[in-house]
Amino acid sequence: MEKMWAGRFQKALDKQADDFNSSIHFDCRMYKQDITGSMVHAMMLSNQGIITKAEYAEILNGLSGILADIESGKLSIDMDAEDIHMFVESELTKRIGNTGKKLHTARSRNDQVALDIRLYLVNECEEIGKLLLELIGVIKDKAEENKAAIMSGYTHLQRAQPITFAHHILSYAFMLKRDFERIGDAIDRMLSQCPIGSCALAGTTYNTDRVFEAERLGFSGISLNSIDGVSDRDFCLEIMSAFSIMMMHLSRFSEEIILWSSWEFKFIELDDSYTTGSSIMPQKKNPDMAELVRGKTGRVYGDLMALLTTLKGLPLAYNKDMQEDKEAIFDAVDTVKMCLSVFTPMIATMTVLKDNMYKAAGQGFINATDLADYLVKKGMPFRTAYKHVGEIVAYCIKENLVLETLPIEKYKEFDSAFSEDLYNEISLETCVNKRISKGSTGPESVKAQIDYLTEFLNEKGIH
Ligand code: ARG
Repeated sequence: MEKMWAGRFQKALDKQADDFNSSIHFDCRMYKQDITGSMVHAMMLSNQGIITKAEYAEILNGLSGILADIESGKLSIDMDAEDIHMFVESELTKRIGNTGKKLHTARSRNDQVALDIRLYLVNECEEIGKLLLELIGVIKDKAEENKAAIMSGYTHLQRAQPITFAHHILSYAFMLKRDFERIGDAIDRMLSQCPIGSCALAGTTYNTDRVFEAERLGFSGISLNSIDGVSDRDFCLEIMSAFSIMMMHLSRFSEEIILWSSWEFKFIELDDSYTTGSSIMPQKKNPDMAELVRGKTGRVYGDLMALLTTLKGLPLAYNKDMQEDKEAIFDAVDTVKMCLSVFTPMIATMTVLKDNMYKAAGQGFINATDLADYLVKKGMPFRTAYKHVGEIVAYCIKENLVLETLPIEKYKEFDSAFSEDLYNEISLETCVNKRISKGSTGPESVKAQIDYLTEFLNEKGIH
């Protein structure tokens, strides 16, 4: 295929160099955004008297036909084209002749591609947002089902204090809610700066109407500096940063799923449909989906790092290096979508083994803080109470007892302030139920968290 820019050259591009230069095999996925952008551009050109109304009608008709034919499979995108922009334009010219050659008036591929990626990300992030809301809903339902399931909370992966399973997993819902909002913020900022009309880098001598184009394409504003308009890929970085943080959350959750489904913990059992077996060990049931989500987190970080590194040394304005943006952002989008699509049903179908959790919670002295608080409420300074309880724990470990089974006489030997009521105070149920501070693991707080998330989801149209 002859290049559109062939006029200046005596020789054709070397075949390997041509393949190396071409981006069609990945930017072809933006065909719809490219055509939409071109339709609006042609409308603007016509409104401004830069092309005639009749020419506009011809271009619009041609572009609609191309779009319909690609979607129906009648037209396949020519992988010999340099990129999607060149393909659409040359196909248009093939169909409508010379008028097609007017489409590229007052624009450049530099502002065109900057626009296409933005339009592409709006759609994809909307879908990712929906997947995130679905996951938040599933976590909330699991929390609702497990409001009374007591487990140990951990610090340093050592048993720490009694909590409910609901409280534990709700923490992930709040992380994911922030992720949802972060992606939305990035999209809003991206949509405040429509680049189209920046042209190659310096703007144009035509009397264009950039604001009209921006509004038609769903933007709230235009980029005010044409050099920035074509050179900016911050929006890709911001969205990939938001994805990276989200993947980090999914990865931490995955890590817990993997631990909890081990024989050592046995806090949950994953559904057969989200686990795999081993080719040699007949007993195995492996949490591969969670492991892959954890693994793919590295891949999304890699996409972000790749683009950050690509951009760091670039002089203004457009440089071909920037063509590398798309594979990074496309891979990040695909990976995030795939991970969420598998992670959510994996969580929805897992079984929570409440009895095992409860049993484990009874074995790690996780009510020791509450025993110290018991003494504090009887007037002892916390540090003194803390020391007493430490000694009691050490004694119990030596005697193979737990705080619940140490006899009252023994307690009294440590301090006369102890009386029979301590046993009720340190029961796991009391420890949880008496947590009254806002945001705590106590039942009122957990209910407030669930109510808050329900309202948030309702506002987003999820019921
Ligand atoms: N395929 C190119 C890219 O993805 C489109 C922009 C090309 N612009 C240029 N001046 N060569 O970045």
